[in-house]
Amino acid sequence: MRIGPNPKFSPIAGYHWFDGDGMVHGLRIKNGSATYVSRYVRTSRLKQEEFFGCAKFVKVGDVKGHFGLLMIILQILRLGTYDISYGIGTSNTSLTYHSGKLLALHEIDKPYVLKILENGDLQTLGLLDYDKRLGHPFTAHPKIDPLTGEMFTFGYSQLASKVTYRVISRDGFMHDPVLVTVSEPLIMHDFAITTNYAIFMDLPLYLRPVMMVKGNGFPYMFDETKNARFGVLSRYAKDDLQIRWFELPNCYIFHNVNAWEEGDEVVLVTCRIKNPELEKLIGAVEEGKMENFRSELYEMRFCMKSGLASQKKLSPPDIDFPRINEYYSGRKHRYVYGAVMDSVAKIKGIAKIDLEAVPEKGKDKIEVGGNVKGIFQLEAGKFGSEAVFVPREPGTTSAEDDGHLIFFVHDENSGKSQVTVIDARTMSADPVAVVELPSRVPYGFHALFVTEEQIQGQTV
Ligand SMILES: [Fe+2]
Repeated sequence: MRIGPNPKFSPIAGYHWFDGDGMVHGLRIKNGSATYVSRYVRTSRLKQEEFFGCAKFVKVGDVKGHFGLLMIILQILRLGTYDISYGIGTSNTSLTYHSGKLLALHEIDKPYVLKILENGDLQTLGLLDYDKRLGHPFTAHPKIDPLTGEMFTFGYSQLASKVTYRVISRDGFMHDPVLVTVSEPLIMHDFAITTNYAIFMDLPLYLRPVMMVKGNGFPYMFDETKNARFGVLSRYAKDDLQIRWFELPNCYIFHNVNAWEEGDEVVLVTCRIKNPELEKLIGAVEEGKMENFRSELYEMRFCMKSGLASQKKLSPPDIDFPRINEYYSGRKHRYVYGAVMDSVAKIKGIAKIDLEAVPEKGKDKIEVGGNVKGIFQLEAGKFGSEAVFVPREPGTTSAEDDGHLIFFVHDENSGKSQVTVIDARTMSADPVAVVELPSRVPYGFHALFVTEEQIQGQTV
């Protein structure tokens, strides 16, 4: 399954590719055949806009200049607070499966529960509030510990200097909130866990509506004068009194790869953007046009004994949307499967990086050699999506890279789309399988593989 934005109604002002209504593209593979389905997540805002027959909610593409400021003020007046999380999201960012439920996620809202039917079709069942225990936004990137079955999540606030951290047990019980104080109200897209810690990223990307009328024209501001801060908190802490903050040079990060512990150190492997050009990064108004999304793979180390942090570069640009064998989530792993981006953030290939190999120095683009063990390069005019790693056998008894990478591909020459399956071990240019799809699948965000056992284990 891959989720992404697909606007049902024409936007009020401009279109921004963060804005579209969430649509899930699913391929059910069973008994040698494949069935494709695309379904909107039936969000509260989509249903309201369907009722009116037009766009009603403020979107990123609308919030520009004086008009944008007015839109934000109107939204605050309408909702009481810009922070509220009752059905204003588009549910377009990512998917996860936990405790018998498939969830569609968008970081400004609560999760929507989807049901996968036996024939592969999808139904939206509604917002999930964990028996009214969830009253804040829920990140699009929660983490699941494969050994304990717990899920770890957080929500950030665009008005208050706090992040709300939550632990959800294997059986779906959401524990009490833990408030983590950050330097300013910020935008935190991802975090990480290890077996003992949760890692929060206090990076200087802020919502500053005033910037729309005097500044870069967008409601966001990246402050280049601030350091990047990383907070390491005990995974089961009841408050943030014991959090340890580490500082590293300024950067922004959308996606972490994984984190683990080594002796006194907490290690974070991540996709680091050194100098985000905000107008290009956030301000792109056309679908898929996000120039200079120049993220590089980095390893960061936080020493819990000395309080010192260090970092080292593991790859040239441009790599992001990293995935791993998720049986290693929170534990030391070896292989990263990342999307190789072109200059307008379209995915032109999937690279496999070996963290135990030495990176080649002096490269300015991702090429095979050094720690880059293979690249599945798409043909000219074809662009991909995040590749999800599917192990041949569940667990960690077989080799970490023994499995397949599955991703959607769109051919801009023919207008057709397909799902491609490749061998993650060999990264052979010859795909294991290609499924031609009957319709175009727009470029989107994150992907998830749901096993047959999970489909049968749905509790809804
Ligand atoms: Fe993301």
